[in-house]
Amino acid sequence: MTNMRPTGAALMEKLVSLCKRRGFIFQSSEIYGGINGFWDYGPLGVELKNNLRDAWWDVMVRNPPVGPDGQELQIVGLDCSLISHPRVWEASGHVGGFSDPMQTCRHCKKLFRADHVEELLEEAEWRKSLFDAVMEAPADPKKELRRWAEGKGPKLAPGLPLVQNPAAAMASLPTNVHGVPLFRVLLGPILPCPNCGGELTEARQFNLMFETFVGAVRDEESKAYLRPETAQGMFYNFKNVVDSSRVKMPFGICQVGRSFRNEVTPRNYIFRSREFEQMELEWFCHPSEATKWYDFWRTERFRWWESLGLAGESLRLRDHETDELAHYAKDSGGCCDVEYAFPFSGEKGFSELEGIAYRSDYDLTQHTKMSGVKLDYFEQEKNERYVPHVIEPAAGLTRGLLAVLCEAYTVDPSRPSPELMRFHPRLAPIKAGVFPLVAKDGLPEIAENLYKDIRRRVGAAQFDEKQSIGKRYARMDEAGTPFCITVDGNTKEDQTVTVRHRDTGEQSRLEIDAIVPYLRQKIGLE
Ligand code: GAP
Repeated sequence: MTNMRPTGAALMEKLVSLCKRRGFIFQSSEIYGGINGFWDYGPLGVELKNNLRDAWWDVMVRNPPVGPDGQELQIVGLDCSLISHPRVWEASGHVGGFSDPMQTCRHCKKLFRADHVEELLEEAEWRKSLFDAVMEAPADPKKELRRWAEGKGPKLAPGLPLVQNPAAAMASLPTNVHGVPLFRVLLGPILPCPNCGGELTEARQFNLMFETFVGAVRDEESKAYLRPETAQGMFYNFKNVVDSSRVKMPFGICQVGRSFRNEVTPRNYIFRSREFEQMELEWFCHPSEATKWYDFWRTERFRWWESLGLAGESLRLRDHETDELAHYAKDSGGCCDVEYAFPFSGEKGFSELEGIAYRSDYDLTQHTKMSGVKLDYFEQEKNERYVPHVIEPAAGLTRGLLAVLCEAYTVDPSRPSPELMRFHPRLAPIKAGVFPLVAKDGLPEIAENLYKDIRRRVGAAQFDEKQSIGKRYARMDEAGTPFCITVDGNTKEDQTVTVRHRDTGEQSRLEIDAIVPYLRQKIGLE
C-alpha cells in the first residue's frame, strides 16, 4: 500500500479534521467558541485512550515485566485525589519553582512562553510575509519594505515599529544591508511579538499551578492546587502502601490520571494542553541498585512504545544534557526521554513522549522534612534502614494518544476512503465491523448474533447494514477497525464468513465459529 500522506502542518490539519469528523477529539466547549488548552474525547477517542491506558496498566500492574534478575516485578496501583494538602506542593518544589519564563506583548497584551517565541515567530504569518517582501526585492528592498509597511503590514503586524512609524524605522536602517541580514535588522535584537510584531516585555517567571479554594472562605488559608503531576500522590502514600500491602523492596507504585498545568502557550493540538492525563510509575529501590533499575526502565519503556507500533525512525531514546536535568535529578544525573517525531517537531525532529528520571531520594526526603513523618524502609534481609531511591518513568497518556494517531494516519487514494487509521489491533477503538451483505434473507440475524458474540468476548464491535459494502469498509477504515466480517449468501450453506483485513485489504474465508478465537488471538488477548 502506498502511504501518500502529507507532512508537517498539512498532516496535522488533515488529522485534526478527521479526528473531529469521526469523533476522536473535539475542542472543549466548542459551541461557546472553545477554551484554549482543553479538549474532549469523543466516542472513538475515549475508546482509543482507554485502550492505551489499559495496555499500560496491564504491563505495569496486572502482568508486570520480569526484572534483570529473572524475578517478576512487584507493582501496585493507586488512585489519588486531584487536590491534596497544599504543603505537598511546597515539599515537591512546585509552589516555589514550577514556573516557565513568560513575556507579554506591550501592544496586543498576549502572553508567550519565552522559550517558545522563536518557534512561534517561525510560524507567524506576518514574519513570513515580511521575509518574502525583503527577499523579493534584492535591488531596492527599502522601496518594497515601505510598500509592505503601508500595505499588508497594518493588518498582519500592527505592533511592529516598521508599521507603526515607517519613516523612522526606514531612516534607522543601514543602507547597504540586503536579504536575510536586513530581515534580521528589522526584527531587532529582542525578538518581537509573534502575534502582532509589538515589543515584548522582559521574561518573568510564571507559576503553572492552577489555584483553587477549599471550603466557603476564599483566603490564603483555604488556597489549594489542582495537581500538576500524578507522581506526588505516590510519594506521600509511600508509608500507607508499605504498611497495607505485601510489597517488599524493590517495588513500584503506579497511577494514571489527570494533571493540570496552566501552560502559558498550550499548543500543537493535545500535545501541550492545560488539562491532560499521565501514566506514572515510581519505582522504589535500594540506593546501590538505582543505576541498574534506571537502565532497566529506560530499555523497558522504549520497548513498550515500540510494541504499540511507534517503531522505526519515528521513535528514539535521548539522554538529557546536564543543563536540562530537572532539580530532583541534578545529583543523580540520570534522565532520558522517549521521543516521537511529531509532525510539528520542526528542526529538532522529535518531541518528548515520556521522561525516565532517576529522582534519587529527593521526594521521600522532602516529604519527611515537611510532614515530620519518616518515609523510609527497613529491609529485614539486610538488617538495614534506608530512604529508597526512585526511578520514575512518567508518560503522557493524552500525548501518547496523539503519537498513536499520528503514526496510524495513512493515505491510500486507491481505497473507497483515501484516509485510514492503521492502529495496532490492541488499541483500535472498534475491533471488528460486522456486516450482512444484504439486509434480507436472514443475513442480518446471523450477523447480529456474531456481532453480539464479538462484543461480549473480544471487545467493541460495530454492526452496520447501511449502504454499499465499499462505504461500510470506508467507515471502518477511517475508524481504524482492523477486521471487517461479512455474512453473505454462502454463510447459510457452509457456515463461513469473509474476513477483510484493514491494512492489506485482503480477504479470507473462515468458519463463523472460528471468528471469536481468531480475533482474540490477533488482538493479543490469547
Ligand atoms: N512526574 C514527572 C513529570 O510530570 P513531566 O516530564 O513534566 O514529568 C511527564 O511530564 C509526561 O507528561 C511528559 O513526558 C508528557 O508526555 C506529559 N505532559 C507533560 N505536560 C503536558 C502537557 N501540558 N500536555 C500534555 N501532556 C503533558
